[in-house]
Amino acid sequence: MASLTVRQLDEALKARLRLRAARHGRSMEDEIRGILRNAAEQDEPAPPPAAAKRGGAREGSRRASPAPDRTPAEDAAAAHKHILLVIGGGIAAYKSLDLIRRLRERDMAVRVVMTDAAQRFITPLSVGALAGEHPHVDLFDAKSEFDVGHIRLARDPDLVVIAPATADLMAKMACGLADDLASAVLLATDKKILLAPAMNPKMWANKATQRNLAQLVRDGVALVGPNAGEMAESGEVGVGRMAEPLDIARAAATLLSQSSDALKGLRVIVTSGPTHEPIDPVRYIANRSSGKQGHAIAEAAAAAGAVVTLISGPVTVADPPGVRVVKVERARDMLRAAEAALPADVAIFAAAVADWRSATNSREKIKKSGKEAPALALVENPDILATIARRKSGRPQLVIGFAAETEHVVENAKAKLARKGCDWILANDVSPETGIMGGDSNTIHLVTRSGVEHWPPQSKGGVAAALIERIAAAIKGRQ
Ligand code: CTP
Repeated sequence: MASLTVRQLDEALKARLRLRAARHGRSMEDEIRGILRNAAEQDEPAPPPAAAKRGGAREGSRRASPAPDRTPAEDAAAAHKHILLVIGGGIAAYKSLDLIRRLRERDMAVRVVMTDAAQRFITPLSVGALAGEHPHVDLFDAKSEFDVGHIRLARDPDLVVIAPATADLMAKMACGLADDLASAVLLATDKKILLAPAMNPKMWANKATQRNLAQLVRDGVALVGPNAGEMAESGEVGVGRMAEPLDIARAAATLLSQSSDALKGLRVIVTSGPTHEPIDPVRYIANRSSGKQGHAIAEAAAAAGAVVTLISGPVTVADPPGVRVVKVERARDMLRAAEAALPADVAIFAAAVADWRSATNSREKIKKSGKEAPALALVENPDILATIARRKSGRPQLVIGFAAETEHVVENAKAKLARKGCDWILANDVSPETGIMGGDSNTIHLVTRSGVEHWPPQSKGGVAAALIERIAAAIKGRQ
């Protein structure tokens, strides 16, 4: 694509864009990106105004990620919080300068640690000018250790953001190495960590990096990006671009609002995991759902103050803390448990329910007869989401489903939204090559009655946090 720089625009247009960007709290570049994105998506139907109002101020926008706008709740949660930004050594470090501005725009205080390699890409002087204080660069700097010290650097912040998180930094974190200031601080901190990886696509895809990533996600580290696209190296395309500064700032704000009272006093039902539909005492019909996404949502809802009932099919993930867990096997049991958990304000159906069950459930193990294989007759299971969404009385205010698709993801999700009568659908592509089914990250397209939002790829915990924040805003908008 031809490059377009703001300098090439005429002064009057620049002034209008500057005003518009300031109104939206974005940089000029992000504003222009948003305008181009909307223009490119013009073939999508415009949101009906009534529905746009119903879901709160941000619903109905058609943008490539939920980042550009900010909700008052999100801003309030982030204001005056302390961020420790660790800048790793990669070409994406230049974007971290913008990230500092984006964080400070939200009234967050930013303290910076730079690795040696980071200082090869951007200077401590620029970082210091934007952050309002000199960055910390040396584990053995006597003055810095006397003033702040790496232990205080690790303990003081409300959130640690690593951007760019290089393959090297991720490997050190996964192994618990602490041979420089950045890694020592990361080992010493007990605060939530948000990782914004950036590296060459081959380095990202490397088994070692993926192993380290899996370990970090298991350790509770949150993730934003990386995105797919062109790399700084000419001709390289793939997954590895650092998430945009606005997306990172928003993910940070969302994480900071997670242990909040955002859903205080609300009753939330979440279904999660697969169902097992018995054929005989030893065999069953199942699917590859791990329950990671549904469990993460239940955990995030509880952390936001909701009273949560999690109805879980057979999974190996641990029960989330602070949540009432009802364990079921079959779709029919899941429906019964969901109905028994009513009344509720919000119901989120993340389970991968088996669509069919065996028409017969043999009491004895079916034996090989030596002749032809037995025919498996199937009958359809009840649709739990549709049953709850279409209730005449006792329907939760907000009924949210997922759409597991392998093709025409957004179109199929829109059809599902209409067919099932729910309010929102979180659509995801579960084709084997995405690694979403059973994996630790997810890419969501949020389909509401008023539009579609394309969320950036992120950890399942990140998706849960973003969803809880959206729910809180929507419920507030309806009150
Ligand atoms: N769902 C449900 N009960 C069912 C089937 C699905 O509650 N018997 C819910 C899922 O929890 C999810 C949504 O419906 O929130 C969509 O599930 P999905 O598997 O994507 O779609 P299906 O309805 O099964 O349709 P299809 O298999 O044709 O895509």
